[in-house]
Amino acid sequence: MNILTINHQSCQRCGVCIATCPVSVISLDAENFPYMKEEDEKRCVLCGHCEAVCSKQALRHYLLPQMKMVQRDKLQEINAENLSEYFRNRRSIRVFLPKPIDKSVLEKIFEVVSYSPTGVNLQKNKWIMICDHHFIRQLSNAVINWMKTMIEQKAELAQYLNFQKLVNAFEQGNDIICRSAMNLVIGYTDALHTGGAIDSIIATSQLELLLPSFKLGGCWAGYLMIALRYSPDIKKMIGLDESHTVHSAMMIGYPKYHYYKTPYRKKAEVKWI
Ligand SMILES: Cc1cc2nc3c(=O)[nH]c(=O)nc-3n(C[C@H](O)[C@H](O)[C@H](O)COP(=O)(O)O)c2cc1C
Repeated sequence: MNILTINHQSCQRCGVCIATCPVSVISLDAENFPYMKEEDEKRCVLCGHCEAVCSKQALRHYLLPQMKMVQRDKLQEINAENLSEYFRNRRSIRVFLPKPIDKSVLEKIFEVVSYSPTGVNLQKNKWIMICDHHFIRQLSNAVINWMKTMIEQKAELAQYLNFQKLVNAFEQGNDIICRSAMNLVIGYTDALHTGGAIDSIIATSQLELLLPSFKLGGCWAGYLMIALRYSPDIKKMIGLDESHTVHSAMMIGYPKYHYYKTPYRKKAEVKWI
């Protein structure tokens, strides 16, 4: 059976499904109706664009779950002014309320994040969501202990990133590693997935952008990310080993403070050609 079925009554033969296919697996038959050659079926990346873009709903892709195809006209138009303002006012949140996040909220967030783009639509992002803030504290401790070892070994990285300053701050009671966050999300993929870093970072960034709509905020946990890259022991603490690559870590929680102004950012450096 062909994985594409075309309703010849409603298909306008406009070719939009062909024009938008990322891997050019849709062809025209003798009567200019779209179809997929059998040999092209395994090259289809299941992105769903052909079906989603058809204004006449003339095309059905049999390998896609139909229940997931939401009618686009039910969605609200995005207003450029509002969205731009929203992007400008996304802030890294470093001070959180000691309030747990409902699992149902986090599940909703992951559901939306699964729509972020992935190379060749591979959708191989994996996540660890840590909801135990005591464990998050243990991770911060482990990162600080790893930093101390790096300082002792006179590692270049320790000097470059001034680990001593971070250790001092931590020992004075300031958790500069995970900021006493209630939750921590870690993005990773199988180590063999070559495009994993880009996919995972894009998805984490989209997750961060989504947080305020759930009254939450986030902050990249860069020092933890570095420690997870260099220390197999810390990686082991979150149940991962050399067969996995960690690409992102983000603290999540309910923001304690509100921002009243938009801080200045440098103008985008763009070379126009
Ligand atoms: C890859 C990356 C790692 C980061 N790591 C940390 C971190 O470990 N701790 C922290 O407080 N902020 C961290 N940040 C947040 C940046 O400091 C923040 O994005 C920057 O100061 C601009 O502030 P804004 O995000 O509110 O615009 C990180 C950001 C990125 C993109």
